[in-house]
Parts: sequence; structure tokens; C-alpha cells
Amino acid sequence: MVELSGKLGLIVGVANKRSIAWAIAQAAATAGARLAVTYQGERLEENVRELSETLSNPLVLPLDVADDAQIASVFAAIEREFGGLDFVVHGAAYAPREELSAPFVQTSREGFRMSLDISAYSLVALARGALPLMERRGGGSLLTLTYLGSERVFHNYNVMGVAKAALEACVRYLAADLGPKNIRVNAISAGPIKTLAAAGIAGFSSILQHYRDRAPLRRTVDTAEVADAAMFLLSDAGRAVTAEVLMVDAGYHATGM
Ligand SMILES: NC(=O)c1ccc[n+]([C@@H]2O[C@H](COP(=O)([O-])OP(=O)(O)OC[C@H]3O[C@@H](n4cnc5c(N)ncnc54)[C@H](O)[C@@H]3O)[C@@H](O)[C@H]2O)c1
Repeated sequence: MVELSGKLGLIVGVANKRSIAWAIAQAAATAGARLAVTYQGERLEENVRELSETLSNPLVLPLDVADDAQIASVFAAIEREFGGLDFVVHGAAYAPREELSAPFVQTSREGFRMSLDISAYSLVALARGALPLMERRGGGSLLTLTYLGSERVFHNYNVMGVAKAALEACVRYLAADLGPKNIRVNAISAGPIKTLAAAGIAGFSSILQHYRDRAPLRRTVDTAEVADAAMFLLSDAGRAVTAEVLMVDAGYHATGM
């Protein structure tokens, strides 16, 4: 069992109990971490507050990752309450619904901008905010969530695939930048899971079925399995791993014909 006792973490990207970020929050709390959990807007506040009641002494804060002032408030609150930070889980992603069904060539300038801002740039902004708090703790671990659509074409994944390619590049550049401060930056590339975000991708069920038919393990993955892999990367067990995209997809990424 992974040990996170005494560690302080920030979890971004919980919408409901099906969120991958929520599974990671639960695993981290079980491993002993104290957590700050954010919610995006009033619409999700009640959900996230209710879920967080099951955590021990959590800090629950609003955060729209497209808003620099809210990012600054989150880190100011964490500084006040925690005094430092050991890890950040970045599970925020967004693309306008119409971009996830229309032909990719129709991607709008604004849809492209918004998708890359929220789904990729936000990791850089959070890393910058976390940096002084992690330095106080002698280092830290940043983890984001990505998908194979960054490298391969999946029908309707469209601009989100482009955003995930940018996100994975951000992981490598941040890892190079922050490594000398003992801050590691990694991504988990999860297989498809039916969550709120996934529901926005037209024809998502057929992607799930394709994994059941073709992945070496002949199945899909669940959020608890992604969370177990996250525990490795967030904890000292992963202390020599950085700039990595870890595939947690039942082996699907290795398949060809
Ligand atoms: N579900 C999958 O099949 C799958 C596979 C691989 C990777 N991922 C990635 O995992 C991450 C989590 O997604 P999920 O599947 O758990 O779905 P989810 O809908 O539960 O989580 C997505 C989160 O992003 C947040 N978000 C969107 N815009 C935001 C903004 N402006 N500010 C702050 N938060 C914002 C939402 O509030 C939500 O909590 C995403 O990066 C997603 O791309 C998902």
C-alpha cells in the first residue's frame, strides 16, 4: 500500500463521483494525504462539497482554471491553511460540444483557443502557482490526465486530441524546468471511461466496445485502476519518474492490426 501520510495535495477536476480525479482523491486520502479539492462554478459546488465530506479535514475551493485570479486565490488559501504542497492532480479538460462531433476541419478559432487554454495551458498555470509551495516542502509531484487521442486519430475526439498533444508536451517542458527543484511532472494516459467529460464525445460507446474487443486485456479500465497508478506517481514510490506518460489502458496503445 502506498504511503502519503503527512502529504498535502491539491485535486482539480472533480465534477461527480464518476470523475477520475475523485477516484484519485479517495485513494490519496486513504493513503493518508490531506487534500484541497476544487470545484468549477456554483453548478458543481454542492456535488463536490458533499463528496468531500467523506475526506478528513478537506479544503474545498472554487476554481475555474481559465481565470488567473481564481488560481491565485486557490494557492493563497492553500498557503494559509497548509503552508506548503506536495502534489497536484490536474484533471480539468474542456472542448465545446460542437467541436466533438463536427468534422475536425470545421474547428473554430475560439473552440481551439478555449480547448487548449483549459485543457493544456492550465497545467502550466497550476505548476507556476504550486512551485513556491512545493519548494518549501523540498519538492513535489504534478500529475495530469491525458488520452491516446494525442497521438492517434479517434473519431470525434478532434480538438481534444490536439489539446492532449499540447498537454503532453507541457508535461515534458515542465519536467525539464522543475526537475532541478525536485518537482516531478507526469501524465497518466487512461483508457476510455464513461464520465461526464466522456459523455460529450459523440459515439463514445463505440470506443469503449473497441477496447473490449481489441485491448490485450480484452476490457476497459475503471477509475480506481487509474487512481492506483496515480498513487505510484504521486508518492515516493515514483521518486525517479518524471516527464513520463504512463499508459493505463489495458494495453490498447500497443495494438496495430
Ligand atoms: N473519461 C475518459 O475516458 C478519459 C480518458 C483519458 C483521459 N481523460 C481525462 O481525464 C480528465 C478528467 O476527466 P473525467 O473523464 O474524469 O471527466 P469529468 O467530467 O469528471 O472531469 C472533467 C473535469 O474538468 C473540469 N473542468 C472543465 N473545465 C474547467 C475549468 N474551466 N476550470 C476548472 N475545471 C474545469 C470539470 O469541472 C470536471 O470536473 C480529463 O483531462 C480527461 O480528458 C478522461
